Amino acid sequence: MGEALRDRLELEGFAVDWHETAGSARAAIAATRYDMLICDDRLPDGTGGELFATLNETVPAVPPTVFITGFGSIDRAVALLKLGATDYVTKPFDIEDLLGKINAHCRPGEAPEAGSSRAPTLGVSSAMRDVEAALHQIAAYSSHTLITGESGVGKEEVAKRLHALAFPGRERPFVAVDCGAVSQALMESELFGHERGAFTGAMRSRRGVFEQADGGTLFFDEIANMPLAMQMKLLRVLQDRLVTRVGGERRREVDFRLVCATNRDLKPLVRSGEFREDLYYRINVVHIDVPPLRERHEDIAWLADRFLEAHNEAHPEASRAWGPAARESLLHYPWPGNVRELKHCIERAWVMSRGPALECEDLLSGFESVEAGGRTPDTDLRSYLRSCERARIVEVLERNDWVVGRSAGELGISRKNLWERMRRLEIDALS
Ligand SMILES: Nc1ncnc2c1ncn2[C@@H]1O[C@H](COP(=O)(O)OP(=O)(O)O)[C@@H](O)[C@H]1O
Ligand SMILES: [Mg+2]
Repeated sequence: MGEALRDRLELEGFAVDWHETAGSARAAIAATRYDMLICDDRLPDGTGGELFATLNETVPAVPPTVFITGFGSIDRAVALLKLGATDYVTKPFDIEDLLGKINAHCRPGEAPEAGSSRAPTLGVSSAMRDVEAALHQIAAYSSHTLITGESGVGKEEVAKRLHALAFPGRERPFVAVDCGAVSQALMESELFGHERGAFTGAMRSRRGVFEQADGGTLFFDEIANMPLAMQMKLLRVLQDRLVTRVGGERRREVDFRLVCATNRDLKPLVRSGEFREDLYYRINVVHIDVPPLRERHEDIAWLADRFLEAHNEAHPEASRAWGPAARESLLHYPWPGNVRELKHCIERAWVMSRGPALECEDLLSGFESVEAGGRTPDTDLRSYLRSCERARIVEVLERNDWVVGRSAGELGISRKNLWERMRRLEIDALS
C-alpha cells in the first residue's frame, strides 16, 4: 500500500518521502518541513497515534496529519482526532477519497505555527470541522448568516461559537429569540421594545431585542415562524439599522450581527409566499448546514464522552465510566433527535445507573422514550443493545480462550459480574 500511495502521490505532483517505521519517520519529520503527514495507525514499531503524540511533544510544528486506520475502528479514529489529527480514512479506502482529504488540508509551503492546532469545539467529524473552519472565516465579516439543520443538531451551539469567534475576549451581547415561541401579539414589542404607556400593561419602557443585541449578535431561531408582517419590519431594520420602540418617536441606531436558524427549507416557503423572498436573500448571505448526527458517527462518541465528563465534573463523588459495550451501542443508533437526544439519553442514564458504570440497560431507558416520540429505529432496541453486549463479550472471551478471569479483566468488570452477564445473555461457557 505504501508503494502504491507513493506512486500515485508522485503522479499527482507531490514530492514523497516514504518511511516504513515510526523510528525512521520521527527522525525525518524532526529534520524536514513537510506540508503533510500521511500515517498508517499500525506500524511495525508502534502505533501511528504514539508516533503522533511524540511528535507533538518534540517537534515544534507537526504538519497536518491524515491517519489510515483499520476497518470499523471508528473509536480509534476519534481518539486520533482528539489527539489533534487533521483527518482519517479507514481501510479499505478509496484513493480518490484520500486525495480529496490531502488536497483539502495540504497547504504547500504554509508551515503551521507552533501550537496552532485548534481544539475542536463542535465535533471531530470532518463535517463539523468544515463548519468550524467556515465560522473562522465568517467571523471576520459581519455577513448575515443562515444556519440550517434538523432539530437538535446544534444550530444554536454553532451560532454561539460564531459569536465567540467574532467577538473574542469581549463581553458582547448574544440575544436569542425563538420566533416560534413568541406570540404574534407580543412580537412587535419583543423585537422593537416599547415606551411606557404604549399599551395597557406597559408600566415602564423596555428595550427590544434589536437594542439588546446592539454591538453583539442577534440570533433568530426558527425564523420560518416569523409572521409575514414582522418579516417586513425586520427587513426594514436590516436596511436602515434604525428601530423605533412601540409608542415611541425616537429612532435609535442599532448595529448587530444577524444569525438566523431554521429546521425547515425556506425555498418552498418563499415559493408559496409564506416567507418573503427579499428577506430570504438578505439573511442568507452565508449559509451553514449542520448535518444530522447519524451522518457524522465520529461525533457521537466524542459528544458522549463530553457529556459524561460534564456530569462527572459536576458530581465527582458519583463519577461514572462506560460499561462494556455501552459506548459502542450509541454509535449505530440513528439519533432522530440528534445531539439533543444524545445529551438527554446520557443524562438520564447517568442519573438512573446504579453502579459506577453506565450500562446498556441504563441507556436503554433513554432510547425508549424516543420510540414513544414517534420515530422507531430499524430494530427493536432492547434486542439490538443486547446483541451489542453479547457480541462484545463473546469476542473478548474468544480472544482470551474463554478464560473468564482474564476476559473480565479486559472488560473492566468483576469475574462474578461477567458470569452473571453470560447467564443473562445465554452465552454458553463451553461453546
Ligand atoms: N457541539 C456540541 N457540543 C456540546 N453540546 C452540544 C453541541 N451541539 C449541540 N449541543 C447540545 O445539544 C442540544 C441541542 O442543541 P441546539 O443548538 O439547541 O440545537 P438546535 O438549535 O439545532 O435545535 C443543546 O443542549 C446543546 O447544548
Ligand atoms: Mg434550537
